[in-house]
Amino acid sequence: MSHLLFEPLTLRGLTFRNRIWVPPMCQYSVTREDGVPAPWHTVHYGSMARGGAGAVIVEATGVVPEGRISARDLGLWNDEQRDAFVPIVDFLHSQGAAAGIQLAHAGRKASTFPEWGTDRSGSLPESEGGWQTVAPSALAFEGLAEPRALTESEIAEVVRAFAASARRSMEAGFDFVEIHAAHGYLLHEFLSPLSNTRTDSYGGSPENRARLLLEVVDATRAEVGDEVPVFVRLSATDWTEGGLSLDDTIELAGWLKSHGVDLIDVSSGGNVLAQIPVGPGYQTTLAAGIRERADIPTAAVGLINEPFQGEHILATGQADAILVGREYLRDPNFALRAADALRFDIDYRPAQYHRAYS
Ligand SMILES: Cc1cc2nc3c(=O)[nH]c(=O)nc-3n(C[C@H](O)[C@H](O)[C@H](O)COP(=O)(O)O)c2cc1C
Repeated sequence: MSHLLFEPLTLRGLTFRNRIWVPPMCQYSVTREDGVPAPWHTVHYGSMARGGAGAVIVEATGVVPEGRISARDLGLWNDEQRDAFVPIVDFLHSQGAAAGIQLAHAGRKASTFPEWGTDRSGSLPESEGGWQTVAPSALAFEGLAEPRALTESEIAEVVRAFAASARRSMEAGFDFVEIHAAHGYLLHEFLSPLSNTRTDSYGGSPENRARLLLEVVDATRAEVGDEVPVFVRLSATDWTEGGLSLDDTIELAGWLKSHGVDLIDVSSGGNVLAQIPVGPGYQTTLAAGIRERADIPTAAVGLINEPFQGEHILATGQADAILVGREYLRDPNFALRAADALRFDIDYRPAQYHRAYS
C-alpha cells in the first residue's frame, strides 16, 4: 500500500513531515477587534498540530485594518500582533508542524459582520464601526456596500503592506507564507475582469490584471529570503462566463512560478455569485490541471474528507499535498486517524497520550 500522504515534502529550505495540511479558516475570534491573536487561536491551531498535521496555515490575516473581512479578524500590521503570534508558532513547532500564515486584504468584501455571534450579515455600516472598502474598481459584490477604486499610489501602499506583514511573519517565526489571491478578495478582484475594469496599467490585459499580485509576490520574496516557501491561493475559475477560467489561471500560475512562487493552493469561486458544482473533491481537477500544465506544485482543497480519498489524489498525481478544512474542525486528529487508516506507523503521536495507543 502506498503512503504518499506521509511522505515528507521539501520546498526550498522547509521539509513538511507529511502532506496533510490545514488550510486557512477564519475564526472571527478577535473579540477585542484589534487584530491580536487570542487564547482561542493558540488552542485551535495547536490542537490540529498536535493531531499530526504536516502544516497549519493560520487564517486570512489582514495586512491593513481596512483589509479585514470583519473587525474580529486577525491582523499583522503592527508589532503587538506579531509578538502575540510567537507562542502560537512556537507551539506548532513543538508539535512538529510547519507554521504558515495567510496574508490577506479583503478588498470590496471587507467590513462585513462576522460569520457567527450575530444574526446580521452583509456590510457593517460605517455608523457601527464599519469602514469604506476599496477595490480595483467601484463595483460592489452583490449585496455588499460599494467600494472605492484604489489610486495607483494606494496600490503601491498595498504592496508595501503585504511586504511589511511578510517581514513580521518571519519575525514571529512562521516557516512559510501564503498570499491570499482567491475568493473574491482584493488580489482576486484585480485578477478577474468581472471586478477589474481599470484602464491604467493594473487593468485590461491579463498581464495588467496580474500586475498587483506579481508585485506583492516580489515584495514578499524580498522580505522572506530564498529559503522560505511562498504559496499563493488562487480561485482557479470564477465559474462564470466572462470571468477567470482554468486556462487563464494556468497562464497566471506560469508567471507566478517564474516569480519564485513555490506552490499554488487551488481553490475556486467567490468573486461573484455563481453556481458551483460542490461535491467530494470538486476542485482537485483544477489542481491537477495547474500542476500538469504550469508545472508547479499544487495543494488540493475542497471536501477532501477521507484518508483514502486524499491518498488517491496524490497517487493520481493531482496535487503534492492535500488541505483538509472542515473535516479537521470536526476531528483535530485527522492526520493521526489517516495514519491508522493507511496502516502507516508514525512516530509523532503525542507522547503524553501514549497510554491511549499502547
Ligand atoms: C470556517 C471557515 C473559514 C474559512 N476561512 C478561510 C480563510 O481565512 N481563507 C481562505 O482562503 N479560505 C477560507 N476558508 C475556505 C477553506 O480554506 C477551504 O478552502 C474550504 O473550507 C474547502 O475545504 P473543506 O471542504 O476541506 O472545508 C474557510 C472555510 C471555513 C469552513
